[in-house]
Amino acid sequence: MAKVGNKQLGRARRAKEDEFYTRLEDIERELRHYENHFKGKTVLCNCDDPRVSNFFHYFSYRFEALGLKRLITTCYKNQERDLFSQNDSERAIWLEYTGDKNGNRIPDPEEIGIRQFEGDGDFRSEECIELLKQADIVVTNPPFSLFREYVAQLVKYDKKFLIIGNQNAITYKEIFPLFMSNKIWLGYGFKRNCAHFITHYEDTATDADHREGMIRVPSVTWFTNLEIPKRHEEMVLYRKYDPLDYPTYVNYDAIEVGKTSEIPDDFNGVMGVPITYMYKHNPDQFEILGMSLDLADMSVIRKRLGCNNGGPTFYIEQDGHLIRLYNRIAIRRRRK
Ligand SMILES: C[S@@+](CC[C@H](N)C(=O)[O-])C[C@H]1O[C@@H](n2cnc3c(N)ncnc32)[C@H](O)[C@@H]1O
Repeated sequence: MAKVGNKQLGRARRAKEDEFYTRLEDIERELRHYENHFKGKTVLCNCDDPRVSNFFHYFSYRFEALGLKRLITTCYKNQERDLFSQNDSERAIWLEYTGDKNGNRIPDPEEIGIRQFEGDGDFRSEECIELLKQADIVVTNPPFSLFREYVAQLVKYDKKFLIIGNQNAITYKEIFPLFMSNKIWLGYGFKRNCAHFITHYEDTATDADHREGMIRVPSVTWFTNLEIPKRHEEMVLYRKYDPLDYPTYVNYDAIEVGKTSEIPDDFNGVMGVPITYMYKHNPDQFEILGMSLDLADMSVIRKRLGCNNGGPTFYIEQDGHLIRLYNRIAIRRRRK
């Protein structure tokens, strides 16, 4: 793959490196778990470029199989004419597909309605919100840099959604409360939680995972509010609680469980687990109480260390030393 020059890189940075296109195989692998949701529904893929988007490809070719009513995709016209945008027209556009008309089971160009926006097709614009209102389910890979706003808008308009985002978004202060109140959860995800996106940005991955014309983005996953069986699968737990294996935090009343698979089966108190626990969360099995970011009592730590050693988080003590841990999620077993 050709390397991009400094000038282009500057433009890419300004565009916040949001131009990643999702692979068809990744869309297919996730969407096969949701097929029962789409019958008679209008699907909106905003934040898209329908002419290169595999989302448009997937839904238009699966239109009849899914029993869709209508497919709408919108294409943003970046004001800065970003590095890789395929949309060279002066205006942003949106496409509409209502299914195969000539019986060849292929979405032909004459069956796809192309309309121009007055504005730039920003998902927050009135025109796009109007299309959002008409949609039942939104499926896309929105710009990671606008993820908070993007989700807030979906919640505001009470939409069902299946979208791609960075795993770190779980802990955003705007997003985590949605997990706590069961308004959002994680889908099935990418292999090893790592996605390959089609892009022209240079891939800095040096390992065997490098793929030509793609960039490897770690810790990427699907966020949804569509019901999936995975969400009700009980985690099978094999460990028994032993205070020697599970230290108690110095600054919060809970035990430390460093690996989700090691959650003790017989402990009914509060436990701190890594963020990746959210991939396994079953709201019938455990309740989420909060994040260490919000729960940690840092006055205890300040007193011990005489200073603030970074942001709020849980600490354990080992051989007289305080050990600072990564962000944890506090959970408690629902009574069996
Ligand atoms: C990560 S890419 C994903 C593209 C496509 N959904 C896919 O997965 O193949 C995000 C897309 O959102 C577009 N975008 C960026 N800012 C936007 C905005 N404010 N409103 C709508 N789309 C935007 C970008 O141009 C880009 O095409």
